[in-house]
Amino acid sequence: STLEILCVCVCVALSYLSLMCSLSRETECSRVGKQSFIITLGCNSVLLQFSSPAEFTSFYNILKSCRGHNAEHSVFSDRTEESSAVQYFQFYGYLSQQQNMMQDYVRTGTYQRAILQNHVDFKDKVVLDVGCGSGILSFFAAQAGARKVYAVEASTMAQHAEVLVNSNGMGDRVVVIAGKVEEISLPEQVDIIISEPMGYMLFNERMLESYLHAKKFLKPNGNMFPTLGDVHLAPFTDEQLYMEQFTKANFWYQPSFHGVDLSSLREAAVDENVMISLSQDTFDIRILMSKSVKYTVNFLDAKEGDLHRMEIPFKFHMMTSGLVHGLAFWFDVAFIGSAVTVWLSTSPTEPLTHWYQVRCLLQSPLFTKAGDTLSGTATLIANKRQSYDISMVAQVDQTGSKSSNLLDLKNPFFS
Ligand SMILES: C[S@@+](CC[C@H](N)C(=O)[O-])C[C@H]1O[C@@H](n2cnc3c(N)ncnc32)[C@H](O)[C@@H]1O
Repeated sequence: STLEILCVCVCVALSYLSLMCSLSRETECSRVGKQSFIITLGCNSVLLQFSSPAEFTSFYNILKSCRGHNAEHSVFSDRTEESSAVQYFQFYGYLSQQQNMMQDYVRTGTYQRAILQNHVDFKDKVVLDVGCGSGILSFFAAQAGARKVYAVEASTMAQHAEVLVNSNGMGDRVVVIAGKVEEISLPEQVDIIISEPMGYMLFNERMLESYLHAKKFLKPNGNMFPTLGDVHLAPFTDEQLYMEQFTKANFWYQPSFHGVDLSSLREAAVDENVMISLSQDTFDIRILMSKSVKYTVNFLDAKEGDLHRMEIPFKFHMMTSGLVHGLAFWFDVAFIGSAVTVWLSTSPTEPLTHWYQVRCLLQSPLFTKAGDTLSGTATLIANKRQSYDISMVAQVDQTGSKSSNLLDLKNPFFS
């Protein structure tokens, strides 16, 4: 667009002139009031005035992303390894990945229903869509009567979203903003924030933190869609899954693999397998051995820091006897609107979604009898790879037998 071309020209001119004048990048451009911008080049200054705060903000956001402003220092970059972020946004830059999510009918259909059935919360309102991807949720907000939707997207998908917005004649109501929600500015505060920030096991990707960060743009008493998330965990028995995972390392036990003795690496292979004993798949609910325990995050109250370390205590009342091989996890989110509450569930009792369920294996199985209690803690510790290290400890209260494991949420295997 003309605005982008203007920004690029300004950036190129600034870079060149700042070299010539030996000025630091920071001292060249600064905001003046709500809709002006002053550029200082040596002893000369230029004042750019925009006709509206919205136009100013678009210019400002594009200029920031062109010049890599804030890139070295934002809440997002401080908590993320550069290589992880690059790979992550490349992934979401593919139309095929957006299509994969859009075609999850349970997911997309439930979002549309939650928004349209609560149209009173959207009619004539200002909406922020965090990580808009193709822009699909922004379109739902517009269908529900939103006056303005700010659709923020950090990957190159932002350009495709802009094309869709214009080709659907929504350019006056949906404004696509390219950039990370932690690094952009908005021209006004919003009434409601919408987003689909859930990774598998709810927390993978750490996008929930970006969703919570976006509350800096929310008016007092504004709403969040989804409004809360529940993680469920329950003990399961699955001998085959356990054997499949823990016998893999035996490959490295061979004294003559094509004439080479591999056994000196067996211990390392066992250690590595422990770290990847987390599977993302689905299962028959009959393998569950008790009712689930629930851990809730209320997105209206929670702060980003609340997600850095989460301790989930559990005490399961065993309903069947047998070997517990690990804990199964799934999540539900609720859209609590003025008209209705709509739930999106990834439970093994509900139709399958692209999130599947997650199972974390214990290092050694625990024998329990119906009527026993299994207690312990699952601790999730955020890491800079946009994921979590998981530590599990479980004990059968009646016998004292104990088992634990450390797992890498980012590295699941598919059985
Ligand atoms: C799970 S997808 C959802 C896409 C779309 N909202 C939908 O429902 O189909 C998450 C999107 O958020 C974007 N995203 C993740 N973190 C972001 C951040 N900090 N700022 C802006 N966009 C982000 C990703 O690039 C991705 O396109």
